[in-house]
Amino acid sequence: MGVGRVEGKAALITGAARGQGRAHAAKLAEEGADVVVVDVCAPLPSVSYAAATTEDLAETVRLVEKFGRRAVSARVDVRDLAALRTTVDAAVGTLGRLDIIVANAGICVPRAWERVTEQIFEDTMSTNVTGVWNTVMAGAPHLIRAGGGSIILISSVAGIKAQPFMVPYTTSKFAVRGMAKAFAAELSAHGIRVNSVHPTGVNTPLASEEMQAELAAAIATNPRLGNMLLNMLPVRGTDPEDVANSVLFLASDESRFVTAHELAPDAGNSEF
Ligand SMILES: NC(=O)c1ccc[n+]([C@@H]2O[C@H](COP(=O)([O-])OP(=O)(O)OC[C@H]3O[C@@H](n4cnc5c(N)ncnc54)[C@H](O)[C@@H]3O)[C@@H](O)[C@H]2O)c1
Repeated sequence: MGVGRVEGKAALITGAARGQGRAHAAKLAEEGADVVVVDVCAPLPSVSYAAATTEDLAETVRLVEKFGRRAVSARVDVRDLAALRTTVDAAVGTLGRLDIIVANAGICVPRAWERVTEQIFEDTMSTNVTGVWNTVMAGAPHLIRAGGGSIILISSVAGIKAQPFMVPYTTSKFAVRGMAKAFAAELSAHGIRVNSVHPTGVNTPLASEEMQAELAAAIATNPRLGNMLLNMLPVRGTDPEDVANSVLFLASDESRFVTAHELAPDAGNSEF
């Protein structure tokens, strides 16, 4: 059981049906927060790994409720700002407040550069960049009304150091890192902190066998570059809870003077 590190707060988490988003929802609930959990629960055209389902999102709600916290869930595409606004406004009406935003929804489609299609580039930028901007735009007015808060944008090690065979993904995750700093500057006037989180490989459905196979095929075209994916610590992957612990720290008042910062639970990958 948690010790109430975000007791009495409410958090919006996107991409919360499974993987890291689910871990963030469960961790914040364990530590005392109510949550708004949204997910598209549907496939995107260029993504080969299996899509999350409405049953996955319902399981996230069950996990949150197990900790005695409230969860409002909705099936929303983060690329749809109007739908996101309607959902968040209604959820804040139910929960009474919003203090924390975790913009986590994202996709990753590795390919050697010449095999990247317009569809892959478009899907990646619209979800990973526009979707994150939409999430902040829908949620920030409520944090301002609450008198402050914490916004956490999930980037990647690919937002600090280029990752091979991921031109669209690396582009999107560098954009997210810049977006966090730009929002941090303007929202500081409202007592809102904005930070980005940069995980290395995490054991989630995104890092599935299909995705690993795509990556392996790309590495075969230029094997030397495969070394750019290695971690400094001798581990292959991390777990969603490892990232959730970083998110919890940034969401809590323990990080009250941390803003415009990059927190990297990346096993040293970005310096390796
Ligand atoms: N798994 C990794 O190795 C890794 C490493 C670094 C960063 N990340 C980042 O972490 C975040 C979470 O990824 P994950 O590993 O948990 O993957 P995941 O595929 O398990 O979960 C992502 C969730 O986002 C949802 N989603 C995707 N597009 C959406 C959209 N347009 N609207 C709403 N929801 C949408 C999916 O349905 C899914 O439930 C992503 O931003 C990803 O880029 C992942």
